Order: sequence, then C-alpha cells, then structure tokens
Amino acid sequence: MVNEMYTLWINPHEKKGKINKEIYGHFSEHLGRCIYEGLYVGEDSEIANVNGMRKDVVEALKAMKIPVLRWPGGCFADEYHWKDGIGPKENRKRMVNTHWGGVVEDNSFGTHEFFELCRQLECEPYINGNVGSGTVQEMNEWIEYMTFDGVSPMADLRAKNGQEKPWKVKYFGVGNENWGCGGNMTAEHYASEFRRYATYCRNYGDNKLYKIACGFEHDPQWNETVMKIAGRFLDGLSIHYYTIPGTWEDKGSATEFDEDIWYLTLKKALHMDKLITLTDNIMSRYDPDKKKGIIVDEWGTWFNVEPGTNPGFLYQQNTMRDALVAGITFDIFNKHCDRVKMANIAQLVNVLQAVILTEGAKMILTPTYHVFKMYSKHQEAQLVHSYMKTELIGTDKDKVPNMSHSVSEDAEGNITITINNLSVQDSYDVQCRIADRNVTKIEGEILTEDFRSYNTFEEPDKVMSKAYSDYEINNGVLTLHVPPCSVLSITIPA
Ligand code: AHR
Repeated sequence: MVNEMYTLWINPHEKKGKINKEIYGHFSEHLGRCIYEGLYVGEDSEIANVNGMRKDVVEALKAMKIPVLRWPGGCFADEYHWKDGIGPKENRKRMVNTHWGGVVEDNSFGTHEFFELCRQLECEPYINGNVGSGTVQEMNEWIEYMTFDGVSPMADLRAKNGQEKPWKVKYFGVGNENWGCGGNMTAEHYASEFRRYATYCRNYGDNKLYKIACGFEHDPQWNETVMKIAGRFLDGLSIHYYTIPGTWEDKGSATEFDEDIWYLTLKKALHMDKLITLTDNIMSRYDPDKKKGIIVDEWGTWFNVEPGTNPGFLYQQNTMRDALVAGITFDIFNKHCDRVKMANIAQLVNVLQAVILTEGAKMILTPTYHVFKMYSKHQEAQLVHSYMKTELIGTDKDKVPNMSHSVSEDAEGNITITINNLSVQDSYDVQCRIADRNVTKIEGEILTEDFRSYNTFEEPDKVMSKAYSDYEINNGVLTLHVPPCSVLSITIPA
C-alpha cells in the first residue's frame, strides 16, 4: 500500500560535522569462529589465503570499505597477554579460552598476524589493552613493541620476530567493560587505574595514541565519575549497546520472529539515540567543545545462537531485520557525528551481527554487509541539514518512526541520501527538496526483501543490494519510491 507523499528537506549549505569513517568500524575478538576460521586459516590451509588470511573474506571486506578493526576483545582483551602471541608459532602458549566456549587457544593469531590482517584490509588497527588481569608494565611494553622506532628491548624483540619497522597505532583501549568482565571494578577505582595505565601509554616518535577509556552506557554515574577523575587523560569514552528483543536468558531467535518482534527489535535498536544523548550530556559538562569522542565500540543485535552450535561461540543468522537495525543505527551515529567518533559492530565474521558468515571454504555476505557497503559513501563526508516529518507505526506497545534517513555531501559535492523504511507493509514516496540544487541524474542501490529473509550457504544471494531505478525526476525535483522493509542509498552527482 502506498501512503501519502513525504518531503525530505535538504540544505547542503548547512554542514553539521564530518562523519568519521571510523563510525563504520568493526570488531574481531578471539571468540568462536571469528578470528580462527573466519579471518585466519593459517598458511597451510586448503582455503585460499595470503599469509594465513582468507582471501575471499579480505576481498569482501575491502569492497565494503572497512575503515578500522578492533582486537583482541572484548572480554578476551582483559585476559590477553600479548607476549603469548609473538615469536615462533610452535613455541606459543596453548591455553583454554575460558570466556568463550572453553576451546583451545593456540595463540597462532597474535600481534604480527593482526597487523598483517589490517595491512591486507587497508584499515586502521584498534588495539584493546588488558587492565583487568594485566599490568602497567605489560601494557607499556606492548605499545613499545608495536610503535617504538629505535633501539629498545621491545623494538629489538619485534625485529627479532620479523618486523623491523614499527607499526602505526592510533586507537588504543585501556581495558574493556571494567565494570564487569574486565575486573568488576568500581567507577572510582577504574578511573584511577585509567590515569595510571594511560600515563605509561607513551607516544613514540610521531605515533600519537588516541586513548579510549571504558564507559558504561547503563550507568550514567560511572561515566560521570570517569569523566570527572580521568577526563583530561582520555581522548574517547567507550560505550556498548546490544539490541536484544528478549531477555538475557532467552534473547529470541535470529530468524523466527513475527511483526510484533520486528517492531520491538527496531524500537530497542533506536534506544541507541538516547544512550548517546545521555553520554554526550555528561561528557559536555567536562568537555563542552566536544574534543573527546564517544566510541561505541560494541553494538548490534544479540539473539540466541543458531540451534546446535556452541553457545559460547555466539553464532547467529542475519536477516532483513539486522539490515534495518544497521541502517537506523548508522543514521543515529551520523546525526551525532559531532560526538560519536568511532563505532565497531560486534562482530566481523561468524559472531553476533556479523557481516560475513563462513562454513569451511564457503562464505556468504549477510544483509548487514550490504548496508555497510551502501552507507560507505557517508564515510568522511559532511553531514548536512535535513528534515523529514515522519509518522509512528508498529504495534500498540511498540511504535517506531516509519522512516529514518541521513544526508551527507562529500568533498567533490556529491550528495548521498540514505533512507530506511521500517514498515513491514507500506511503501512511501519521498520527494527530495534540495536547496539550490536541481537534480538531473542519480545513482542508487536498494536492499529489500521479505522482513524475515536471509542468505544461506545453499541460497547465498537471496538478499543482496540491487541497482535502484524506481524514481522520477520532474523539473529538477527527485521523487523516490521506497518499498516496505528496505534500505535505500542514492547519490546525486555534483
Ligand atoms: O561481543 C561479545 C562480548 O560482549 C564482548 O566480549 C564483551 O565486551 C561484551 O560483553
């Protein structure tokens, strides 16, 4: 059913801030089949690889324009001792990954492998250090190992292990969820620990670290305390938020849900806006000029694992519902780009809201992958003023706006408009009114399918983005036809 015409007002002259490419970032933990199998198969694998990294996965991620990758955790980060993962592989410690699935971790993927992966992906590394069970010295030496250029015990060790030149590291997390799995600390204790650890996170040569402290989205008092005690020592404050339609014990199925659960899930995803606003308000008391960023370094859907899989591996399918969660979350991040400087969906491959799923040598791209690719045109562009009056739809209990959108302009003057239609049933016509701009042509991509659709290894291309042609241009005015349950991305060339 087609509803009334909506108007999207756009004023490209009114710039709202740069959309950091890192907002479209990712996260890879030593969890389930994310690192091992998903990204790293080892040099001797029959699966095509370059220095142990899966060729198919690396190519797909590059095509999606992955800008930054967080590693090694998550909860795993606060149990990770980096020296276990360097040197000859046969000498590396074998241990049990107590956090995730109780499987053997052989440390064959360590610091050198991570930087090799980032080199192949052409993305920024984001390293998360260990505060929970580590020491200041251990963190200090890891940074020296990675970034010191000259004669030093750690630089010498790095060279001995085959890497003469230091790597560049910008993003560095000082602990993860230290209110929980990262040591069950109080806010006061963590804030003091942050100051101590961060003091020894040195900037060597021209390598300048962007130090990220652990925040807590569900406890404003935690964020207040960290900002008050440690605010001047940090560059970013991390928050995490997962969209879980059910309870912690029974999160709900990734693939079997009805329209009520669809709207409930989207409503829960939209809660991200409130969390960011709340955190921003607290940070603004200490940093009114917004020099410090909110880093949403874990977000996404969290459902029950696929039946029959290891509960500790967090392997879940990914439907059009995940695609819409991604699209509306990006619109929230874009809107807050003056404060949100990075975000990392959890997690890259085979874990939670993954963009890629693998099974042996097979690989599929999830609906979420296509949304990342379609939104990549916003990376490094300027958010511009836009407004569209929407209406509330959904169930009596759970209402959401029928559409969400973002508009940006890149350095060449190309305008990108992304629109999400949250309705399961209704399509909408959207007339785009752009100040001082007549539209003559556009390029567009659309992702749309039945709301429960997903890709499988048997049917890998059921949900994929397609060229978009359902629009009209009359006297320089563009009208878009936006089908139900869809993510649309169009670019108006300069
Ligand atoms: O992403 C899975 C886990 O969720 C991470 O390890 C942890 O930081 C969070 O609780």
